[in-house]
Amino acid sequence: MSLPSLQLFTSAELPAEEVFAHALRGEPTYLIGPSSGPPTSDLLPVADWTRAADVEDRALLRLCRGSTLDIGCGPGRLTEQLGLLGHVTLGIDLVYEAVQQTVRRGAPALRRDVFGPVPGEGRWDTTLLADGNIGIGGDPTVLLGRVRRLLAPGGRIVVEVGPPGVRSVRFRARLGCDCGTSDPFSWAIVGVDDIATLASRVGLVVAHRTRLGERWAVVLEEP
Ligand SMILES: C[S@@+](CC[C@H](N)C(=O)[O-])C[C@H]1O[C@@H](n2cnc3c(N)ncnc32)[C@H](O)[C@@H]1O
Repeated sequence: MSLPSLQLFTSAELPAEEVFAHALRGEPTYLIGPSSGPPTSDLLPVADWTRAADVEDRALLRLCRGSTLDIGCGPGRLTEQLGLLGHVTLGIDLVYEAVQQTVRRGAPALRRDVFGPVPGEGRWDTTLLADGNIGIGGDPTVLLGRVRRLLAPGGRIVVEVGPPGVRSVRFRARLGCDCGTSDPFSWAIVGVDDIATLASRVGLVVAHRTRLGERWAVVLEEP
């Protein structure tokens, strides 16, 4: 996408969490990155996060077993659906607005950083990284290692990944809206072709790999 709208952004540098909260309240917001190479700008697909769960989401959630932690729950459509499917569930998110929107759906959520203290550490049957959340923190190996420690013995990580042929990348990005541009943060994209290698670095294997319409997901487990 070309960048004419970026010229409209003010130069104010805001915390990324604040700009993301604006996005969740409906302000058109762009992901600007990477910080090196040609700049790109993509409108955040917030409507995909704030809608109700659809048939692909429900297929994704059928991969979850037992108590399920929705990491980076955003406005909570998957946390809500997990509850409706009978799972003990909790959404966690760095952004207070996301947590509030999840709670307004009637789903339990807490403002937590996945890299900090999280309730039920070592006792979750499933941890869920949906909607590209394998990118959280910008180093998927570190994230998978952290998320593995949240699991009960024999637990699984359900990860949404990019389709075959998508190149895995780590990058620094910013968010931009009319209110300003965020400080930079680290993110990553992981394609399905690379997830087995990443999982093996934290002692996990791909137990299941599936296509959900245009989306792809894997289940990571201990060998
Ligand atoms: C791509 S959005 C996910 C949307 C969400 N899965 C949904 O269904 O609406 C990424 C989410 O991860 C959250 N996030 C980013 N870093 C995080 C961290 N370190 N700990 C917890 N949540 C984080 C963001 O605030 C954002 O809501």
